[in-house]
Parts: sequence; C-alpha cells; structure tokens
Amino acid sequence: MHNNNPERFVADVMTRVPPSGIRKYFDLASGIEGVISLGVGEPDFVTPWHIREACIHSLEKGKTSYTSNYGLIQLREEISKLYTHKHNTYYDPASEILVMSGVSEALDVAIRAITNPGDEIIVPQPAYVAYVPSVMFAGGTPVPVVTQFKNKFKLTAEDLKRAITPRTKAVIINYPNNPTGATMGREDLEAIAEVVSEHDIMVISDEVYECLTYNGEHACFSSIEGMKDRTILLNGFSKAYAMTGFRLAYALAPLPIINAMMRIHQYCMLCAPITAQIGAIEALRNGNEEMQRMVRDYDRRRHLIISGLNKIGLECYEPKGAFYAFPSVRDTGLTSEEFAERLLYEQKVVTIPGNVFGPAGEGFLRCSYATSKDQIAEALERMECFMESL
Ligand SMILES: Cc1ncc(COP(=O)(O)O)c(C=O)c1O
Repeated sequence: MHNNNPERFVADVMTRVPPSGIRKYFDLASGIEGVISLGVGEPDFVTPWHIREACIHSLEKGKTSYTSNYGLIQLREEISKLYTHKHNTYYDPASEILVMSGVSEALDVAIRAITNPGDEIIVPQPAYVAYVPSVMFAGGTPVPVVTQFKNKFKLTAEDLKRAITPRTKAVIINYPNNPTGATMGREDLEAIAEVVSEHDIMVISDEVYECLTYNGEHACFSSIEGMKDRTILLNGFSKAYAMTGFRLAYALAPLPIINAMMRIHQYCMLCAPITAQIGAIEALRNGNEEMQRMVRDYDRRRHLIISGLNKIGLECYEPKGAFYAFPSVRDTGLTSEEFAERLLYEQKVVTIPGNVFGPAGEGFLRCSYATSKDQIAEALERMECFMESL
C-alpha cells in the first residue's frame, strides 16, 4: 500500500528551498485597512505611454507570433548599440545577446548553464531572494559571503577571496543592490576583477537596477579590463522603464555561454513574448527622457526617506542606487522580524525584515521608496510614533 499523500512526488530539493519570505509580509498586511507599504520591490509608475502605445499598435497589426529564440534582431541590435555607446563594450547582436523573460529567467538559466553538481556559487548577502534557491535548483552549492554595513554593503576583494575554494565556479554580484541599495564603483569592481582572474572563476552580474544610479555613472562589470570573457551580464526593462509586467530582460555573455543558455531557454521558454520585445525596442529608442524623469523622482524620495529614518533613530547609510533604504534596527533591541511585525500591527506600515535576504540581513529592515512622497512622509510619521512607543 502506498502512502497517498501527493507530497511524496515532490522533489527533495523543494523541502530545502523555503518560499520567499517577502510574500509572508504581504499576506500579513492583506486584510488590514489603511496599510502603507514600503514593502514592494517594483516601480509605482505605470509604463510610459509611448511604450504601451507601441505594443498596442503591434497587436493591431497582428504581431502575435513567436520570435527567434534569441529575440528580435532589432532589439538585440539596440541592446548592442546601448552597450557600445554607454559602456564602450561590444556585444555581437548575432551571438552574444539572448533576450529572455525577465532577469528572473535569465538568472535561473545562467546558473543552470554553468553549474555542475556540487559546484560552489558564491552569493554575497544580504542578497536578492532568488539567488540561493536558483543555485540549489541547479544542483549547485550556494556559499554566502557577508557584506557589511561598515563597508557600505560593498563586496570586498578580501571577503570574496576568503570564500573561494577549488570547487568555486562563479560569484553572483548585484549592484545597485537589492536589498541594500549599495553600488560598486569602477575601483571596487577592479579589485573584484583581480580576484576572479587569479582564481579563474566566472561572474554573474545582475545589473537590473543600473539606470537607478544616483551619484556618478554605473560601470558595467564586463567593461572592466579582461572581464568580458568571464561575465554573464544580466539586465532588463522592469526597473528602468517600469515594465515589470512585460517580463523582459537580456543576458550578455561570450558565445559558448550564450549557446549553452540558449539550449535551456529554447526548450523551457522558446522565446520572450513578442509584444514585450516590441515595447523594449521602443523603450531603448525613445524612452530615455521618461526614464530620467522617473529616476529624478526616486532620487527626491531617496533623500526624504534617508533623512527621515536617520532623524527618528534608525541609522541608515546613504544608498546610491535602486529604490531601497536599509536602516539598522539593532539599537531598538528587537530582531528584524519583531520590528517588522510590530510595526505592521501597531502602525500599519509594511517593511521587509532584513533576515529574509539571508542571515547577514538580520538587524536591518528593507524600506522601499518606490511609492509616493506623501506615502513615505506618512510612513515616517508612523515609524516615529512606533519608535517613541518602544
Ligand atoms: C536584484 C534583482 N534581480 C532580478 C530581479 C527580477 O527582475 P525581472 O523583473 O527582470 O525578472 C529583481 C526584482 O525585484 C531584483 O531585485
């Protein structure tokens, strides 16, 4: 006789990969009236009209087919031009660019394309919630490295070096960073480049927040000398152009890596949606002005939230990119989870406890400022009341 529980069919790895801790806070908040959310990880803007219009027009014209597995050649050409002009780094549209359904897909496929069972992939933490599970699904071993408040949450060459073993295959870097808002300058990247060359490992560089860089220029990792041949660069349209629902992104990598990723992508996804690809072409050709307008708006909110958090006693370094503040709650004596749960129940403000992004995030809170200035101001007032009540 079998045990009849359908759970017996589920793969073992699933029991080791918990659901995203972020969802829990949205579930807790749903049903509470008058909640303000600093929990979301997506732009509060609607996709600019000219991008939506290009998509609508394409549908009217009946453009509803599959595309090349690599993505529309016009889109790959626009991406190639962008990297040539902005980063002085050439990617061949025919063989080094793969258009995919979100950085989420690109990340999963990139890791699967390079990971043999038991390979170690270094994941600096606090980290975006998908990295560790994606490594585990691919049969690899995630190896955490702690990035620290005192280093403004940058990955240092020394910390990376210490985590490398003979089994290390790659490190996943992400700047501007979710959840810390930290970014890396050219010098920081050059120090990382030296270590990855010395130890002959790959870099998966998630640069989806590139356009949301507030001070100075973003340097892409593959533009660092010698790095193009060992980098899988991931970028997309979700954050820069407020296109999260379009599910569109791309991977840039050397030909053998793109070939390997392509074999997974063509079987699991076939191609990214054509309508989204048409929207992405419009975004790259004519979307700069609107995108800059949104970035200026995030920047104003960034100043508001950082000064507000510091004023009420939640120490917060100045994040240089993305749309997250990452204040410390250690001085309150509460854990991140206690703080986030009590703040939600007592003042109806949703934030995400730092430990959701790995144990290194304990003692911190992720506060998204992808919400209106009024909402941020109101959330800060409520947080002040909460701090006074402790
Ligand atoms: C660091 C990071 N990478 C990737 C993603 C997923 O992006 P996409 O919408 O392109 O799948 C997110 C979304 O929040 C993110 O924060």
